[in-house]
Amino acid sequence: MNIVLGITGGIAAYKAPDIVRRLRERGAEVQIVMTASAEEFVTGTALQAVSGKPIRSNLWDKEAEAAMSHIELARWADVVLIAPATAEVMARIVSGGAPDLLTTICLATEAPIALAPAMNHVMWNNPATQANREVLEERGIHIIGPGIGSQACGEEGAGRMLEPDLIAITVFNLTGGKGEGLLEGRKVVVTAGPTREAIDPVRYITNRSSGKMGYAVATAAAAQGADVVLISGPVSLAEPPGLEVIKVESAMDMHAATHEAIDAAHIFIAAAAVADYRPVAIVEQKIKKKSESMSLELTRCPDILASVADLDAAPFTVGFAAETENLIKHARGKLEKKKLDMIVANRVGRDCGFDRDDNAVTVLWSDGEKSFPTSSKVELAHDVIELVAEHFFAKRGSETQSRLTVISNND
Ligand code: C5P
Repeated sequence: MNIVLGITGGIAAYKAPDIVRRLRERGAEVQIVMTASAEEFVTGTALQAVSGKPIRSNLWDKEAEAAMSHIELARWADVVLIAPATAEVMARIVSGGAPDLLTTICLATEAPIALAPAMNHVMWNNPATQANREVLEERGIHIIGPGIGSQACGEEGAGRMLEPDLIAITVFNLTGGKGEGLLEGRKVVVTAGPTREAIDPVRYITNRSSGKMGYAVATAAAAQGADVVLISGPVSLAEPPGLEVIKVESAMDMHAATHEAIDAAHIFIAAAAVADYRPVAIVEQKIKKKSESMSLELTRCPDILASVADLDAAPFTVGFAAETENLIKHARGKLEKKKLDMIVANRVGRDCGFDRDDNAVTVLWSDGEKSFPTSSKVELAHDVIELVAEHFFAKRGSETQSRLTVISNND
């Protein structure tokens, strides 16, 4: 895949070499086009070294234009990705102006365009930027992110550029991702995030799950060509483009949404941290504090994963086991008790597991296991999906096994 990577002038430009690396790891040719302000944040020398191609930045560079004109570059691209994309470049693309090489390419290309915005949260939430985002999306330009979290300016909010790996995977999902993936034509249903169990109109019971692992797994499955339905509890993550996202709140909602989506699914991956118990009844009015203590009667929530594994035509089922102790023993117990095909065991505690960007997991199946050391949840999700695909096809028998051989021969 040929990718024009536009880099504009935001602090997140320091992550651009990593984006180049992630795209090239997946086999893409990357031609970098920098704006003048991007050069204030990251050097062309570093980017030339990682991309293996001379950097383009000046529309009026006669030598570079003679080698490959801006129109040829616009035609060469299978996708134009701008990361980081500033509020300014979004506004320029909306206006249709072409004062520099990057925006000229955006006007002249017929390839899909994707932007990974990165800016201060007030700038992102500014009505002008939001109006521009809407126009860009209406025109079919893909907006990847931004993420929510701490910002370079020291504030918190929406505006962080998504992680390079996630940007690279999303770009492949949008364009060349389909067609060669291990899970092409397969339907994969993924649950992710926590659930919220209402106590009264203002209070609820929940847990510390951020949804990051489930979202990464869903994105990795889509990158392997699967049609993915992601059933998500309340999280503050951007919806990954290219997959169907169903938002739910409670365990009961997630149970209903899963059983609605599971029809014709080949693989079900339960990464959600579903509440085990919910209040017996939701009190209609806000509970007033009266006595010194109060008790709350809870009842068991349905086990979504076990209920799917129990279906007559159950898909290939994969569970997650988050444990604070005896990780492997408990995970293997769950694999057997819930009649799963595979289980992904991860340790959770103060300094691992929930609400982090990295993780370490062991995947278990009836007669084997494989451990993956600590790495980003995005990378782990890829490893897990490859392993799941391998075991899914092994279970489905020789027809699909030969397909895998064809795919690995093509690699
Ligand atoms: O038994 P435990 O809750 O530890 O099992 C974890 C696995 O079961 C996870 O894959 C989780 O998504 C799934 N689960 C579920 N419904 C529940 C509880 C857990 O799908 N009510």
